[in-house]
Amino acid sequence: MKFTLRTRLGRAVTVQSPDGVSLMEAIRASGVDEILALCGGCLSCATCHVYIDPPFKNRLPPMSEDEAALLDTSTHRNEHSRLSCQIVLTSDLDGLEATVAPEE
Ligand code: FES
Repeated sequence: MKFTLRTRLGRAVTVQSPDGVSLMEAIRASGVDEILALCGGCLSCATCHVYIDPPFKNRLPPMSEDEAALLDTSTHRNEHSRLSCQIVLTSDLDGLEATVAPEE
């Protein structure tokens, strides 16, 4: 699948990714160095925060209570926020657009 990532500097990067990896892993593999992912995807750091473009929000798996609670610790949370380590990429999400959230 393919997705477009907007970096904090406003650069749009098209990323080709195998299905089954997390959005966080795909961003890190793409060479964009703006996602720290300090906890490695175990839902305890919120440094993988992204904004998902509205057309794709309803295609994502629902947010768990733990993800919502962790996002609440971010001053940059908005209605488009998700933690990219919690989104598994599949062909259903082909064309996804996301933006890296500001650093805390
Ligand atoms: S990588 Fe730590 S919460 Fe996503």
